[in-house]
Formats: sequence, structure tokens, C-alpha cells
Amino acid sequence: MTSPEAPSLYDRLGGTDGINEIAAAVVQAHSINPAIKDFFADSDMEKLTRDVADFFNMGSGGPAEYQGRDMPSAHKDMNLNEAHLVAAIDDVLGVLDARGVDPVTRNEVLGILYSFKGEVLFQ
Ligand code: HEM
Repeated sequence: MTSPEAPSLYDRLGGTDGINEIAAAVVQAHSINPAIKDFFADSDMEKLTRDVADFFNMGSGGPAEYQGRDMPSAHKDMNLNEAHLVAAIDDVLGVLDARGVDPVTRNEVLGILYSFKGEVLFQ
């Protein structure tokens, strides 16, 4: 018996166009979030937006090929703590909420982001 497949997270986030828009809004939110904006002072925001978009695209079941560093390599020298992680995740949730992403999808993203805690915090 066949049953229709549930749409992937990639589809529920709006595919490549939706994820690109989400990534741009998240990076923009980080750049003005007083709790974390200083970390991005020297970043190439265009490249970061592309990398974050590809990372999420690939990780959610999309066709992109992420070209950036692995998460520990990208974050280990920043000395990030839990408050930084919460602030960054809040920015993502704020973007998803503003776009009207459904609560199940939103919470799935939250769980995925939280699961990276051990790969981005080194205190
Ligand atoms: C929730 C877990 C996180 C994920 C999944 C994540 C994801 C990413 C990705 C995909 C990149 C691109 C890396 C590259 O291009 O090589 C990146 C870079 C970066 N992340 Fe995160 N990140 C997380 C948490 C954080 C937190 C909590 C902060 C600080 C508050 C942060 C600050 C940065 C900065 C400043 C860069 C850019 C580094 C540079 O310009 O070289 N990240 N992150």
C-alpha cells in the first residue's frame, strides 16, 4: 500500500527560495541583535547568508551543497556561551514566526538548532 509522503522540512520552509529568504532575514537579525551582533562585525555577510542558506537547505532535505566549514571549526574560537546560543536561536524563531511558519515546523527547526549546542559552545 502506498501513502503520500509527508512534505520534507525543506518543502515546508518554502524550498530553496524560502530558505534563502529565511537565511537573509536571520543574518540581518543577528547583525542588529545587541546580544550577538559584535561577533559578525568582520564577517562577509553575503557569504555568510549563502553558507547559512546552503547549510539549512542541505540539512532539511534540499539540493544545495554546503561549502562552508563544519560547525566546530566555524565556532570554536568565538568562546560562545548559552546566552549567545539562545539569542541566535531567538532570531531564527522570530523570522519563522514573522513568516507564519506552522508551529510543528518551527519547533522542528528549534530542535535541530538546539542539537548543535555541543558543536558551537566550547566553554
Ligand atoms: C544554533 C547553532 C548554530 C548553527 C547551526 C550555526 C551555523 C553557522 C554556519 C552554517 C556558518 C557558516 C560557516 C562557514 O561559512 O564556514 C556560521 C558562521 C558563523 N556563526 Fe554560527 N551557527 C550557530 C550558532 C552560532 C552562535 C550562537 C553564534 C554567535 C552568537 C554564531 C556566530 C557565527 C559567526 C560570527 C559566524 C561567521 C564566522 C565568519 O564570518 O567567519 N553562530 N554559523
